[in-house]
Amino acid sequence: MLVLGIETSCDETGVGLYDRDKGLLADQLYSQAAMHSDYGGVVPELASRDQIRKLLPLIGKLFEDASCCKQDLNGIAYTRGPGLSGALLVGAMFAHSLAMALKIPVIGVHHMEGHLLAPMLDKEAPAFPFVALLVSGGHTQLVLAESFGKYSLLGESLDDAAGEAFDKVANMMRLGYPGGPAIEALAERYRPQDQEQSAPPLQFPRPMVNRPGLDFSFSGLKTHVLYTLEQYRGDQGQLPSTEVLAKIAYAFQEAVVQTVAIKCQRALKMTGLNTLVVAGGVAANKRLRQWLPHYLSRMGSVSLYYPQIKFCTDNGAMIAYAGCQRLLLGQGTSEVSIRPRWPLSDLAMEAESE
Ligand code: KG4
Ligand code: ZN
Repeated sequence: MLVLGIETSCDETGVGLYDRDKGLLADQLYSQAAMHSDYGGVVPELASRDQIRKLLPLIGKLFEDASCCKQDLNGIAYTRGPGLSGALLVGAMFAHSLAMALKIPVIGVHHMEGHLLAPMLDKEAPAFPFVALLVSGGHTQLVLAESFGKYSLLGESLDDAAGEAFDKVANMMRLGYPGGPAIEALAERYRPQDQEQSAPPLQFPRPMVNRPGLDFSFSGLKTHVLYTLEQYRGDQGQLPSTEVLAKIAYAFQEAVVQTVAIKCQRALKMTGLNTLVVAGGVAANKRLRQWLPHYLSRMGSVSLYYPQIKFCTDNGAMIAYAGCQRLLLGQGTSEVSIRPRWPLSDLAMEAESE
């Protein structure tokens, strides 16, 4: 079975071709980040207009790369939600029209299920059950993944998502959008060991770690960064030097990384599981990938899985993979629909009611 995956939930146009036997054949991505950077965040109307412009040429390149054509397809998968309505509609309409013309099944995939399953694109894939930390621009969630399609929410952010906090802090420092990679690069310039004893690294709060449970909150941390920046501003209100910004970026990143590590450890203990999947845009963060195994090594053997860096952020390959699994179970749909708000745990309930 060969499935075309289409991801258009936000500001990336991603397409992928997944073959049940051969694995991922090709993928193509176009990021609108440069266009939104001027605005400090995604402008929904611009996002959907650009999805329309980019989708067809990208699919053309995809078929070229994989040396195949649309007649070879056995199914189409698109991101049904959650995401921006206009952007989602572009993928949904395109997927249904092409599927109708080719007379093949089509399936709407949950974007976060795509992220959660992205490590399965690798040869060494995690086996169910596992705990998943989904850290993206829109979500920060700890999920118990019991089996394919059976996901329950263990905890989530009560306010900003981790990626959103990275983006907002980067915006405060005028680093452009998306903020995660920019903050990561800036934080790398700060070397705590090179600093004099009189200037230790800044210590930012680790939100909600002293409260029981698995929820997160990053909005207070973001405000903490704002106040710290105010403290270091120059006489004319200008931003502090790059060195000081790097020190603040470092302290912020440490706080986010250590907070999620504490909650992951707690989730593994609570569920009694020893497999952790970390996915979503923030899973690309190098400091997170370095700190998590170090921190979790105290628990004994924990198996950690991440998608390849390029499949951490939004992409069409993960949608093609998730869609292929669902189409193999005979779950195609004829109804053209999107769900801009769609809790991941609804998937298990929907399966039961079918
Ligand atoms: O999964 P994703 O592409 O989109 C959503 O589903 O939201 O995640 C995008 C988010 C952005 O907030 C971006 O700043 C963040 O992931 N991100 C990172 C890194 N790369 C992307 N955050 C921290 N470090 C990174 N290296
Ligand atoms: Zn995403």
